[in-house]
Amino acid sequence: MSVDTVISATAPLTGPLTLIHAADTAPGWWRSAVIYQVYPRSFRDLNGDGIGDIAGITEELPHLADLDVDAVWLSPFYRSPQRDAGYDVSDYCDVDPIFGTLQDFDVMMAEAHRLGLRVIVDLVPNHCSDQHAAFQAALAAPAGSPERDMFIFRDGTGPEGHEPPNNWQSHFGGPAWTRVIAPDGQPDQWYLHLFDSSQPDFNWDNTAVHAEFERVLRFWLDRGVSGFRVDVAHALIKAPGLPAWGGRADGGSSDGFPGHEAPMFGQPGVHDIYRAWRRILAEYGPDRILCAEASVDLDRLAHWVRPDEMHQAFNFPYLHAGLDVHRLRGVITDSLTVLNGVGAPSTWVLSNHDVVRHASRFGYNGQGPRDGDGIGPADPQPDTELGRRRAAAASMFMLGLPGAAYLYQGEELGLPDGIDIPEHLRQDPTFARTGGERLGRDGCRVPLPWRAAERHLGFGSGQDPWLPLPPGFTELARDAQAASPSSHLSLYRNMLALRRELGLGSGSLAWAEDWCSGSSLAYLNGATLVVMNLNHEPLELPLGRLLLRSAEPGSGRFLASGETAWLRIDGGGAE
Ligand code: GLC
Ligand code: CA
Repeated sequence: MSVDTVISATAPLTGPLTLIHAADTAPGWWRSAVIYQVYPRSFRDLNGDGIGDIAGITEELPHLADLDVDAVWLSPFYRSPQRDAGYDVSDYCDVDPIFGTLQDFDVMMAEAHRLGLRVIVDLVPNHCSDQHAAFQAALAAPAGSPERDMFIFRDGTGPEGHEPPNNWQSHFGGPAWTRVIAPDGQPDQWYLHLFDSSQPDFNWDNTAVHAEFERVLRFWLDRGVSGFRVDVAHALIKAPGLPAWGGRADGGSSDGFPGHEAPMFGQPGVHDIYRAWRRILAEYGPDRILCAEASVDLDRLAHWVRPDEMHQAFNFPYLHAGLDVHRLRGVITDSLTVLNGVGAPSTWVLSNHDVVRHASRFGYNGQGPRDGDGIGPADPQPDTELGRRRAAAASMFMLGLPGAAYLYQGEELGLPDGIDIPEHLRQDPTFARTGGERLGRDGCRVPLPWRAAERHLGFGSGQDPWLPLPPGFTELARDAQAASPSSHLSLYRNMLALRRELGLGSGSLAWAEDWCSGSSLAYLNGATLVVMNLNHEPLELPLGRLLLRSAEPGSGRFLASGETAWLRIDGGGAE
């Protein structure tokens, strides 16, 4: 990494600047934070049963502190039959035995706080597990009972109610309704599940559901969490009467319906729920936050983060813009503009546990995999080198942006997806529910490589990991990368340190028009210029002090294809 080199470019940064966003002076740690997503089952297996655990997280937290992130978001570790990797919760106020105990959680929290890290947990309010006591009680109770009213039970249609109540489809494939058998053995009502049949949707028109989740919020707030990432936050309220709908349950517009018109998503009633939650969080001081996972377009997303609602929301339009320069510019401009309108910071994200990792997505020149569908051995394969190089450029472009950034575990190592996963080990319900047609999300969930020389690359020293670590992970192990100044990990460390030092997270954004083209983008954040080149031709950088570049070796004052650089522009580079 060529740090602090004055580049002898010929042209100073001139030309028009289009100011989109002024520096953010509002208080709030989350507004500029870097939040690192831990996927517990794949992070670190300390007790050797092949599945990551909370004690494993505690063990490795110093590495995250070392990376200099502000907070950790933990995907679900609650009691669960694990039919959807923990997003099927059977007890919201306990730790699943595969991950440990509540005491392990408290130890982890204490260690995180000692290291200066905040902890956010996942809240899954749209649905629970069919093993949850409330759903079991609903099954045992008759139609029309208060127990059934906790969920969305309806009579079937057609002769003898053999057909589902409406035509909604599950996000994971197949109908969104399952019929139950009454205690007397007769076919009974149907219940709604937007996801797997083991994940019945709660009825948020019932105040008892509200009361239950307020209890859950307080339970974790009392244990010191800094907030919640709210799972499918746009789905809680369904349109009255559950009208038929021509599109898919995931809001995809496959049949010509825009996502926000879908009767199971983005209903206005959700906002009162989040206002009530915000009031609860406020009782615990100004530092506890709510982050929405809401797949809605940017204009609507702003409604989720009005001053009395959630603090922030994931920016999926940014993730979906990929490396399309035109879309990226549009999404960044629109995000900052609409969110400034409600005084909320933007967030940025490139990877999570639901999509193909960006180091793999960017390894295609043409059409890559569909997000969430994975890559299998029979599919067109990504170019690993190209993917990793572009991933470094894309991450460096993202981490220069003002706002909060969400990282997914392993992206700091440049990990690609696991591809060669034997079918019998695949666990994402998408795989089974589509008869293997869609592989699902297991590929981005394979365990992390910690130490190259250890058994299972240091993920765990006992049983085989729940998914195999790909052979290519050996050279990507954290200890190997930590030892190399030119590694992906070292780049992340340098980026995160500089981002903090330069205050980029609370900075400004102006497009540097003369360095923006159909295949390059450049913005000024304070005195830092961020330039990404996706053209096949090298791009000459303007005069300035080169702080960091994403590719090694760099080629002097030229930015190669698939490369990003951060430059200090003040002082004309002649420091
Ligand atoms: C969210 C989660 C995903 C899960 C789904 C159902 O989209 O990120 O992993 O399967 O909700 O809870
Ligand atoms: Ca374990």
